[in-house]
Amino acid sequence: MRYNQISNQLFIKNRARFTAKMVSNTMAILTSNDVKHNNADDVMGFSQNNDLFYLSGIDQDETILVLFPEAQKPENRAILFITETNEQMRIWDGEKLTKAQASEISGVSRVEWVHDFEKILQLMAFEADGFYLGHNEHIKRVTHNQQTRQDRMILWVKEKYPLHNLHRVAKITRDLRPVKSAEELALMQQAADISVESFKMALQAAKPNIKEYVIEAELIYNLTRSGALRHAFKPIVASGKNACALHYNTNDDMCKDGEMILMDFGVCYANYNSDTTRCFPVNGKFSERQKAVYNAVLRCLKAGSKLLKPGVIPSEYETKMAKLVEAELINLGLFTAEDVANQDEDKPLYKKYYMHGSAHYIGLDVHDVGLYTRPLEVGMVLTCEPGIYISEEGIGCRLENDYIITEDGNRNMTAAMPIEVEDIEALMQKK
Ligand code: GLY
Ligand code: MN
Ligand code: MN
Repeated sequence: MRYNQISNQLFIKNRARFTAKMVSNTMAILTSNDVKHNNADDVMGFSQNNDLFYLSGIDQDETILVLFPEAQKPENRAILFITETNEQMRIWDGEKLTKAQASEISGVSRVEWVHDFEKILQLMAFEADGFYLGHNEHIKRVTHNQQTRQDRMILWVKEKYPLHNLHRVAKITRDLRPVKSAEELALMQQAADISVESFKMALQAAKPNIKEYVIEAELIYNLTRSGALRHAFKPIVASGKNACALHYNTNDDMCKDGEMILMDFGVCYANYNSDTTRCFPVNGKFSERQKAVYNAVLRCLKAGSKLLKPGVIPSEYETKMAKLVEAELINLGLFTAEDVANQDEDKPLYKKYYMHGSAHYIGLDVHDVGLYTRPLEVGMVLTCEPGIYISEEGIGCRLENDYIITEDGNRNMTAAMPIEVEDIEALMQKK
């Protein structure tokens, strides 16, 4: 694997926390994701199902984890199923995990071949009163029109065992995953550290009359040589007015003298993610207006991030952040305090220039699972990402860091990524 092997204590602890929340005498069945194929025989790639990874550490497709904590036979309480390799697979794809390796990675002592799953489950199913099954219940679910491996498992279980009760894995993992353990925070810090280095390299590459993808190339180069798995999401390198399209990611435009670039990117290391945004001038020197907008956003980031602390409810925090941005929009002359006093409360004026939220959980998913009505707790990790987008001026600015909630507030995991105007300009002059 690309990353250093994670201590299996993390997965052993996660399984203990998960099974402690299961309804009595039930069995959980977690499946891996599918490998996604292109048109012919090539693949788009593989990213593991995050609930399965959280409970097993196995980063291979065709994997199933069964947890049955109250099984009468101790050997049935946790079983990991992996794919059995053969000569054909060895010749074309190389090695797959052995049973011993899978056991070492996961800490599950019983490992079986996945082709024996149905047979082995048959021997245990009668004893259980119900099954916990995984399903993509993310608030921004993107698997509506494709059948996932989890969906196929649900259909199969319903058909094969129609009288068993069904329960949702997501109810438990969404409760557990937002609060990160020390081992998870260390992995997230590695992702953050790679991001910092990548940003500095991208900054050095920027100059007038290059394509945005030339800057993107620095990100790919550094994350690959650092052992990261992939981008956390398709990176945004948006020059000039492109920065006002929130999810712009074609990155194929020319960076022009006098424009500012918005770069929003993340690193996925060991399946844990970072998510950061910085803005910088193509020619190395911010214009007065760019600097004014940038510093307005920076003040919102500094003041807003201080609001992220234990007990705060994210939705209430968002209202406060919107007020901070609104005050800066007035300072920038985009509307007046009087306009605000007279605005339609259902259509606040700030939404023309600041149209997204500013904090999301981050972890195994970039927009990680978790409820935004739940008060923040120590160990949660959230982004803070205010922005101001003035499309009529061709200026879009967002600044984003990742914060761990601590007893006394929070700690910025991406503090080493330069953010002050002077520091950005100084680094750009150095090349
Ligand atoms: N790039 C996605 C986000 O910042 O949330
Ligand atoms: Mn974000
Ligand atoms: Mn981002």
